[in-house]
Amino acid sequence: LMKEIVVSGIRPTGFLHLGNYFGAMRNYVRMQEQYDCYFFVADWHSLTTHPDTKELQDSVLRVLAENIAAGLDPEKACLYVQSAIPEISELYLYLNMLAYKGELEKTVTFKEKVRQHPENVNAGLLTYPVLQTADIIIHRAKYVPVGKDQEQHLEMARNFAQRFNHRYGELFPEPHAFNFGNELVKVPSLDGTGKMSKSENQLATLYLADTDELIRKKVMKAKTDSGPTEPNSEMPDYIQNIFQLMSLVSEENTLQKFRDDFNAANIRYGDMKKQLAEDMVRFIAPIREKAEAIRADETYLKKVMQQGAEKARASAQETIREARAMMGL
Ligand code: ADP
Ligand code: NA
Repeated sequence: LMKEIVVSGIRPTGFLHLGNYFGAMRNYVRMQEQYDCYFFVADWHSLTTHPDTKELQDSVLRVLAENIAAGLDPEKACLYVQSAIPEISELYLYLNMLAYKGELEKTVTFKEKVRQHPENVNAGLLTYPVLQTADIIIHRAKYVPVGKDQEQHLEMARNFAQRFNHRYGELFPEPHAFNFGNELVKVPSLDGTGKMSKSENQLATLYLADTDELIRKKVMKAKTDSGPTEPNSEMPDYIQNIFQLMSLVSEENTLQKFRDDFNAANIRYGDMKKQLAEDMVRFIAPIREKAEAIRADETYLKKVMQQGAEKARASAQETIREARAMMGL
């Protein structure tokens, strides 16, 4: 029985944080049991905004180590580095002839990046959705595990794949967002504003590489107030966020105790944060330690990268062979 194919890219910029873990990694770990998964480190993509490559190799190894520590298994999922698969750039070239300047300029993420980096509006940035399409359809993937913010890119990927099919013959299935049902969690930031993210306030984001001491410090700084003055008060957003974080790493009865305390208007947020800090340390420390050990073993990491590249290249070469045949090249 053929398993359905899933592709997803991991950017080699920044450290993995708790939002990435619960919003993405944990799902990837589940998917690798049921799907034919291709997970790649998107080093080419990072060049659009990070042209300095001094630290790139180190970032690639680290992000790979962190993802394996978080549960990705190189024996179950194909883990590779994008630049090891030159066929992706060939497909990118063909797709670029089927992508139009007007539609690329209208991409929300492009407009955002132009605002952020007006000094470096390069063609790679403009054609980012084309390379992303090549990444996906090079393996003729059916699913891409992405959130709502990527829906526009997936729509473009379906358009580019369709245009190829219409012009040269049916080769590519149309990729769709993988539906996680109601399991998509949004991990809130510790400062009570929005979601945890690498670009926000650093003290409000918990990284899987944070030391125990730093985790405790960040959690204890989380925004609270003096507590409700009457039973069954309405819970402010920033307090809901602390409960939400607790629900990810603490025992159900711990969570229930603090809920009861809140409803009885005798909650002590200092105690709640101490408990959350300890549970967070208990959750993050083993992943951090494992990632450090894996990162230190470069021989192992190089072997993982090579094994992944072999499988990914075989899949990519087959697609390119068929594409060339259909195009008469
Ligand atoms: P960041 O927002 O920190 O830049 P990315 O945009 O690189 O992170 O996201 C990588 C993956 O992690 C995506 O699948 C994204 O949906 C997920 N993710 C990022 N932050 C969160 C969060 N706070 N809660 C849930 N998922 C998140
Ligand atoms: Na994001």
